[in-house]
Amino acid sequence: MRLHLNENTAGCSPAVLETLLRLGRSDAGFYPDYDKAQQAVANLFGVPVDHLVLTNGMDEGILAAAAAACRDHSRSVPEALGVTPPFDEYEICTTAVGGSMVTVQLDDEFELSADDILAAVTPRTRVVFVTNPHNPSGRSVPLETLRGLAKDVAPALFFVDEAYADFSGETLIDPATLAALPNLVVGRTFSKAYGLAGLRVGALVALPATLAPLRRVVPPYSVNAWAAAALPAAIEDRAYRDWYLEQAAASRTLLTEACTRLGLKTWPSAANFILARVDSAAAVVEGMAARGVRIRDRSADPGCGQCIRITAGLVEDTRRAIAALEEVVCAAR
Ligand SMILES: Cc1ncc(COP(=O)(O)O)c(C=O)c1O
Repeated sequence: MRLHLNENTAGCSPAVLETLLRLGRSDAGFYPDYDKAQQAVANLFGVPVDHLVLTNGMDEGILAAAAAACRDHSRSVPEALGVTPPFDEYEICTTAVGGSMVTVQLDDEFELSADDILAAVTPRTRVVFVTNPHNPSGRSVPLETLRGLAKDVAPALFFVDEAYADFSGETLIDPATLAALPNLVVGRTFSKAYGLAGLRVGALVALPATLAPLRRVVPPYSVNAWAAAALPAAIEDRAYRDWYLEQAAASRTLLTEACTRLGLKTWPSAANFILARVDSAAAVVEGMAARGVRIRDRSADPGCGQCIRITAGLVEDTRRAIAALEEVVCAAR
């Protein structure tokens, strides 16, 4: 059982698979057309089509933001700013384009402090990355805090990574917010709630002028024809997505309750995973793996000492994972 990468453990909607099976030789032979996929995403987010760019997973969107923001090296090494524990791609992408990553440590409860972020902004700061809900803790940041931060860090780009926003139900994507914040870019993925991680598709959403330099970084056909065909089918099957969101929410509650019973510290998560502190993360990860359950050891992350992260997916999977966790934790005591 793959509970280590926060994927949709049920897979994609059956409607997506039917769509893919209908594709033929010309779909493979010709460059993809994005009209239908872009329109479906624009409708989903309630923005005009020119407010978004499709990307090869949000990972490519993060790379595009880092590259666009850090391309001017003429005066100094450009900086990206984020929090720690982080989603690693911010630093990987920033350093790949010759920038330097600066991080601010979150407190013990993984609550984001706008003041701490602002104190770390320098004239070299070109982009600020914030994940909402945060990975790996699942904590969510109030949208008002983010709107305020976006204003205060300008002219730096303010990149809000909403990989898990389907699960929290909260987003900065609304026409008024985008219009008021020209430095805001929101990153989204269809890897999580929509179960398209293997197809690789995400989106960046911002005002057209804000997106323009990022658009230039994304290659013209970076989303392949299968992903482009899958996207409208996945978005149209709202019932499947809503069913999966319910499964994930129920699993999150079950996992949290199980950890509480076992005396393990957890944090309130708005995402499709929970973080828990155990006695020995390495031993628990190994014990779970021996029982066929892969979970993630986050203990190397600053502030995550002896923490494990477990995906909250299908309830059926969660019950099996909990049984394994109980065995492993109790056997070690
Ligand atoms: C916070 C965060 N951002 C972005 C991504 C990448 O998403 P994608 O699969 O669309 O590249 C992930 C994947 O785990 C993530 O956790």
